[in-house]
Amino acid sequence: MPSTSAGRETFGSRLGFVLAAAGSAVGLGNMWRFPYLASEGGGASFVLLYVAMTLVMGIPLLLAEFGIGRRGQAAPVGSLRALGGPAWGRVGYMFVTAGFLILAYYAVIAGWTLRYALDAVANGFASDAAARFAEVSAGVDSAIFHVVFMLLTILIVVGGVKGGIERASLLLMPMLLLLVIGLALWAATLPGAREGYVVYLKPEIGELLNPAVWRAAASQALFSLSLGMGGMLTFASYLKRDANLPQSGTAVAFMDFGIAFIAGLTVFPVIYSLGLAGSVGESTVGALFIALPGAFEAMGFVGRVVGLFFFLVLAVGALTSTISLLEVVTASVMDELRVSRPAAALATGTAVAALGVLPAMDTDVLGLMDKIAGEFMLLAGALVLSLFAGWRIRDQLGEELLAGATAGWQRQVPRILWVLRWVVPAIVAVVLAFSLRGTLAAVAEFFGGGVPFQPG
Ligand code: TRP
Repeated sequence: MPSTSAGRETFGSRLGFVLAAAGSAVGLGNMWRFPYLASEGGGASFVLLYVAMTLVMGIPLLLAEFGIGRRGQAAPVGSLRALGGPAWGRVGYMFVTAGFLILAYYAVIAGWTLRYALDAVANGFASDAAARFAEVSAGVDSAIFHVVFMLLTILIVVGGVKGGIERASLLLMPMLLLLVIGLALWAATLPGAREGYVVYLKPEIGELLNPAVWRAAASQALFSLSLGMGGMLTFASYLKRDANLPQSGTAVAFMDFGIAFIAGLTVFPVIYSLGLAGSVGESTVGALFIALPGAFEAMGFVGRVVGLFFFLVLAVGALTSTISLLEVVTASVMDELRVSRPAAALATGTAVAALGVLPAMDTDVLGLMDKIAGEFMLLAGALVLSLFAGWRIRDQLGEELLAGATAGWQRQVPRILWVLRWVVPAIVAVVLAFSLRGTLAAVAEFFGGGVPFQPG
């Protein structure tokens, strides 16, 4: 049985690990993808399905990643190889590739949030929000802010697990939580907020039966919990055996859902109180980057201040996510090539920054990368993970989840293993089949003349 390897970096505290994992989970997915998908997929019907997917599929997979990482004491390639043999190790490269690709476009969107925060400070939001978005989102400006965001990310990852990632999370996550709650309280005071809440919280039964909404809910549950490419696995590889994995995983999932839910309590009232619902439906990126700055601009000075906080929240959330994405790639290079952390972080971060110039120049490329890596590769990764966890290493995983857990949590472990073996692969396989068609269509459309940016 592998034990904690001497010399491997570790988190300094339990809270540090939980907040770092929550930081990975909470990001653009919560504040931009979630409200957008909710507005598309019948509001509360999507929210309900998303909660169900998080409970049935998200938490078990999160615990699978936690268990595999802590037992394997290595990044995805090394951990899968240690527990499953060389062939499984090769599967780990798919995870690293997915992380690399996701980071390349995710950091582009993160760069936009930084840009809008600067706008709020410098000159206020533009009155023509759509034109401003066109300037910000594609071209040299977008590439520059993307590179700046990657530099910030590299800087933190170079600092190491404890001195970089954990320290940043302990500082940024409480700040983020306060800001998100503050924004939601402010949004409650808007005239017409009620209408927004109704759309957000009242299920339309018809949408509950729509397979597209199911697919969106499943893919969002994975994306939002950073599952399917070994991000959580890598963080857990820095844990000692005394950590209570089932408890930590449940805490992370609740924080992630909580922040997505509270973000919705801001986005919906703002959009509905200004009658912008139509513009959100038309364009997918528009939900955040066109409708909201437009709304903030219309509110004058107050809007400028609130808008600044809003985009700061996004930027901070994005940063704690980009560090986890870069950490997967960096840690893999460190493990496999035995190079130092600064060299690995700089080399992989620079490569990501270079690749990201493509989606930064063209939002169609960005949309395509999101479909391929952010949806399809994560689903494939989740399928592989659940099969590995539920069939190949079930006993080892069970033992690992029991270690450090209190009696109450230990009782959940057999149930979790059963779900990983039977339920998760079944759900993911069905969703993957649907998604494959969508992804292939997107690729065909791209090469036939551009696909509009449509996450989910
Ligand atoms: N979960 C993050 C979000 O919701 C994004 C993210 C970070 C991610 N690491 C990941 C997504 C790994 C998929 C895989 O914004």
